[in-house]
Amino acid sequence: MVGFKISAGAALLSLATRSAAVPVVSEPATTFTSQPAVTPEVRPHTNVTSHGPYTGPSPTTTGALTTDVLAPSIPALPPGPDAYKYPSDGKLHAPMPAPYTPAGGLGTNGSAPVYRVLSDFDYESIALALYQEWIELDLFHWGLATFSEEDFEKAGLTAEDRFLIQYMAEQEVGHATLLSNMLGPSAPMQCTYNYPARNVREFVDFCMKLTRWGEAGVYGFLPHLNARDVAQMLLQSITTEARQQVIFRQFEGLFPMPVWFQVGIPQSWAWTLLAPYISSCPANQTRLVWQNYPALHVLNQPNPARINGSNVWNETLGDYANTLSTEAIAEGESCLESDEVGVNCQPAITRNRSEPLSYPGRQVFLEWETPGKPIGPNNSYVTDTKAGAPAFAAWVSQLNVTYSPLQEIQGNKAWTIQPNMSTFEGDPAINGTIFLLVTDTDLYVTPHNITQLNPHVVALTLYQAG
Ligand SMILES: *[C@@H]1O[C@H](CO)[C@@H](O)[C@H](O)[C@H]1NC(C)=O
Ligand SMILES: *[C@@H]1O[C@H](CO)[C@@H](O)[C@H](O)[C@H]1NC(C)=O
Ligand SMILES: *[C@@H]1O[C@H](CO)[C@@H](O)[C@H](O)[C@H]1NC(C)=O
Ligand SMILES: *[C@@H]1O[C@H](CO)[C@@H](O)[C@H](O)[C@H]1NC(C)=O
Ligand SMILES: *[C@@H]1O[C@H](CO)[C@@H](O)[C@H](O)[C@H]1NC(C)=O
Ligand SMILES: *[C@@H]1O[C@H](CO)[C@@H](O)[C@H](O)[C@H]1NC(C)=O
Ligand SMILES: *[C@@H]1O[C@H](CO)[C@@H](O)[C@H](O)[C@H]1NC(C)=O
Ligand SMILES: *[C@@H]1O[C@H](CO)[C@@H](O)[C@H](O)[C@H]1NC(C)=O
Ligand SMILES: *[C@@H]1O[C@H](CO)[C@@H](O)[C@H](O)[C@H]1NC(C)=O
Ligand SMILES: *[C@@H]1O[C@H](CO)[C@@H](O)[C@H](O)[C@H]1NC(C)=O
Ligand SMILES: *[C@@H]1O[C@H](CO)[C@@H](O)[C@H](O)[C@H]1NC(C)=O
Repeated sequence: MVGFKISAGAALLSLATRSAAVPVVSEPATTFTSQPAVTPEVRPHTNVTSHGPYTGPSPTTTGALTTDVLAPSIPALPPGPDAYKYPSDGKLHAPMPAPYTPAGGLGTNGSAPVYRVLSDFDYESIALALYQEWIELDLFHWGLATFSEEDFEKAGLTAEDRFLIQYMAEQEVGHATLLSNMLGPSAPMQCTYNYPARNVREFVDFCMKLTRWGEAGVYGFLPHLNARDVAQMLLQSITTEARQQVIFRQFEGLFPMPVWFQVGIPQSWAWTLLAPYISSCPANQTRLVWQNYPALHVLNQPNPARINGSNVWNETLGDYANTLSTEAIAEGESCLESDEVGVNCQPAITRNRSEPLSYPGRQVFLEWETPGKPIGPNNSYVTDTKAGAPAFAAWVSQLNVTYSPLQEIQGNKAWTIQPNMSTFEGDPAINGTIFLLVTDTDLYVTPHNITQLNPHVVALTLYQAG
């Protein structure tokens, strides 16, 4: 920390605060100056100039990074030996290492934090988060550069709102720098990208969905990192991303936070959703270990731009995230055109929606792709699944994974029913932007072991529940 050097008025300040005889100075002096602190540089970055699908030569390296694989899956075990040892009775059970300092905790013994990854798990997780920060930086700039002021105004977004998007992009520069510093010289570089959105409404929906998996992808691995000091810094950036996600919901005229808990997902799910939007990366780019699952299309994905958002068929951009399409919304069907409370979905702090986007008991039609498709940067990754025959839809939201059986499975198509369940009484679990998977079994998993589901995943996407 660089200290402040007060060059004027110090005596006056101490008088004003210490002596009751001197009247309170209510006009703050403006003559104080402080020496500028040394500011760390950000990682060099550019405004990516080309966008669109990858058209270059076939890649020389394909598939996820790999090494010897010891087993097809991690066996499920009972709780660890100490899991029930601590009495949890509100009393202290060990001498305190210092005053006001209860015994225990990790990273609390005074050894200096070094903010460096400690394992392959750490490296691959932070590198994934960095790929995500880079795309956000580019995406926010791309939206501002691609759509005109008039386009934004038509979607109800003002110059002040555009500045907020610009500011979000700048936040990403900081996040990318932080993660790069913790990885070292091999940290993944900026790539070029390919976005599906064709207008502001679709752009906002895509940003809202992209920040959802960015946020959820980090929550999924954060408590599993070896390096607690790295986790600390990442936590302090991902909470910013969480705010971005809420702001994009507000830009979309959605209820800003329709859940009590934010969901966490495994890294491979986040990479599955992110990779299709990266068209190419520089020659010596650091590759990732994570799996790319086949795409899952929700044929009646709820459309937040419609007055009756659940009354839809095939209204997405056909992309991995099932981003909304405005194309088939006829006049009188767009909630942007209405001033009526419960119908109006102009950008706002919060909106009620009298026709919910989805509801328990809704029939949801699904279609999934087969594995083996080239995807991601330079088409150099390949979609894969290790699962058996599709049997269930898994609804992953808040603290819960709930299954509904697939019905009338025909090849790569089936339908299922949106389940009715609550996380706690009064908190319907399925709301907001959630994760929807096709699986071969209804494996019981909870937030800290959700990765155990990976070998059973056939395909995955986002579902716009509310
Ligand atoms: C996940 O954790 C829960 C306890 O929270 C346990 O009951 C379940 O068996 C675990 N699942 C797997 C696949 O390990
Ligand atoms: C303190 O904790 C760190 C892990 O946070 C550990 O590596 C180190 O060995 C511990 N030091 C002592 C003196 O116990
Ligand atoms: C990138 O473009 C945005 C406008 O879209 C601009 O505000 C920003 O300064 C540019 N950044 C760089 C690094 O050139
Ligand atoms: C990639 O190559 C460029 C140019 O040769 C070099 O500056 C950079 O350090 C390399 N990056 C990695 C991760 O090896
Ligand atoms: C990916 O494609 C770009 C553009 O064709 C090329 O410059 C780059 O070297 C390729 N990257 C890899 C890892 O092959
Ligand atoms: C909205 O659409 C659903 C079908 O998804 C339908 O059941 C409902 O009646 C519609 N509501 C209105 C007000 O039209
Ligand atoms: C959805 O629409 C696209 C074109 O907009 C079309 O190519 C595709 O076949 C449609 N899918 C279904 C299941 O109707
Ligand atoms: C918004 O929705 C809630 C819950 O349905 C309801 O209690 C409230 O009255 C609504 N407010 C307005 C202004 O429609
Ligand atoms: C989601 O939350 C909103 C706001 O509380 C509510 O109006 C809506 O009915 C909820 N949707 C579902 C599917 O529970
Ligand atoms: C869902 O369950 C709640 C009780 O948990 C019940 O009040 C509600 O009527 C159910 N909704 C449907 C559509 O079954
Ligand atoms: C949802 O998660 C909560 C918290 O772990 C748990 O108490 C509840 O039983 C779960 N609900 C369902 C339907 O699985």
